[in-house]
Amino acid sequence: MIEGACHFVVFGATGNLASNKLLPALYHLEQAERLPDDLTFFAFARRDWNNDAWNAHMREVLEKKIRHFDEGVFTRFAARFSYIRGDLNDPDSYRTLAYQLGQTEVTKPSNTIFYLAIKPTEFSEVIRNLGAVGLSKEKGNHRIVIEKPFGDDLESALLLNERLHQYFNEDQIYRIDHYMGKETVQNLVVFRFANLMIEPLWNRNFIDHVQITVAEEIGIEGRADYYDKAGALRDMLQNHLMQLLTLVAMEPPPALEADAIRDEKVKVLRSIRPISRRAIHAHAFRAQYGPGYIHGVPVPGYQDEPGVERHSVTETYVSAKLYIDNWRWRGVPFYLRTGKRMAKQVSGIALRFRHPPQQLFRETPIEDIDPNWILLSIQPTETIKAELQVRLPGLEMRTRTAQLNASYRASDEAPLDAYEALLLDVIEGDRTLFIRFDEVEWAWRVVDPILKYWAQERDFIHSYPAGTWGSDESCRLFDSEDQTWRNEF
Ligand code: BG6
Repeated sequence: MIEGACHFVVFGATGNLASNKLLPALYHLEQAERLPDDLTFFAFARRDWNNDAWNAHMREVLEKKIRHFDEGVFTRFAARFSYIRGDLNDPDSYRTLAYQLGQTEVTKPSNTIFYLAIKPTEFSEVIRNLGAVGLSKEKGNHRIVIEKPFGDDLESALLLNERLHQYFNEDQIYRIDHYMGKETVQNLVVFRFANLMIEPLWNRNFIDHVQITVAEEIGIEGRADYYDKAGALRDMLQNHLMQLLTLVAMEPPPALEADAIRDEKVKVLRSIRPISRRAIHAHAFRAQYGPGYIHGVPVPGYQDEPGVERHSVTETYVSAKLYIDNWRWRGVPFYLRTGKRMAKQVSGIALRFRHPPQQLFRETPIEDIDPNWILLSIQPTETIKAELQVRLPGLEMRTRTAQLNASYRASDEAPLDAYEALLLDVIEGDRTLFIRFDEVEWAWRVVDPILKYWAQERDFIHSYPAGTWGSDESCRLFDSEDQTWRNEF
């Protein structure tokens, strides 16, 4: 736990991430009285503003985002902020920042968080500039928070990491993946390792396949600048979905400690069978949304979104099949998919069991009896369900599916949302839920061959109408005919 007065610098304070996630999360923490009294914020951005203009901007952002905007909370929150006009590429701006931090420093060593809510292409320059003015490992309790994607392929991730380590020690680096702050994601560890009845079944002897879905209704929300270069594979699969996969597949760690868990996650990533060039077609699929309807309202196709390059082949949907070649999972396909402008906002993990070995119910052939499933819904609901077969009342011996539903949210209690929980961890100096570089590296090793192959195939992409579950062609990944995507969790 890091104590003492703390400065929190937000780079990219007027950007999309700050407005959509960071400021609302910090406001909520203020509202919940979770922010330490001696925490101050510095909003760093290019616009020629003073504190009043910044406050007016922040008010506008938060009034839109916060359902029950509270004047008193906002006044408290805004009073913590100073605005610093600066250019990310200009060394002078960092001198100003260092000076201002020095001016208001009340603790020694200084205790400052640098939150990079900026485009990944800007990370490296900011880190170098911070280092140049000594806001680095040289002195103080500096912490740097880096958003995903960390790099845009394996090579750039390695370079970025090298740059970071030039100026910061590993224990000062917080690589954030906000999925790690989600309730169900953390509950997955409890579900697996606190329930003896689950773990013996959680392997290749019983599980037919695993599905991980993150489906979004939103489009790219004005982020073409970033998204058109990134695409769904870099934006979601390499990080959020791979993190989910590691938690589903990992072995029990010797202790619930940051590095013990990370060691297990890395073992999973290292066991993923590399996708050979020849196999890419059978292992990865990409598509892009065309015009369509979301809740009956017409929405434009990706290519008509402002800022998207004409004839862009950037994927807004990606699915992949991965095999984990270890003792527990060999032969069990893990199907991952994520997309924007899909039929429904839903994220979850589904494990399908194999069919029972014997045909006992003559009226229903074994392959027609729905197999058992375990369903972990991440959002919008947070539940864990098991699907079992029970007898259908009547003369014949027929079965139907019954669901056991373990909704685990305690009644009215409003837990911190993922960003809020992780921000509090940064402020308190707890790195448990942050990502170690070897996790990032091995996740890139998995997706890099797909990226390289797609980069060469820049002339065609499948499309799906906005508001649907994606292209049927994505089913080409399935190993057998009775496997199909589950859309309910
Ligand atoms: C972000 C992606 O990391 O996660 C966005 O950059 C995506 O494109 C978002 O919309 C999804 O997060 P959540 O918590 O809404 O599922």
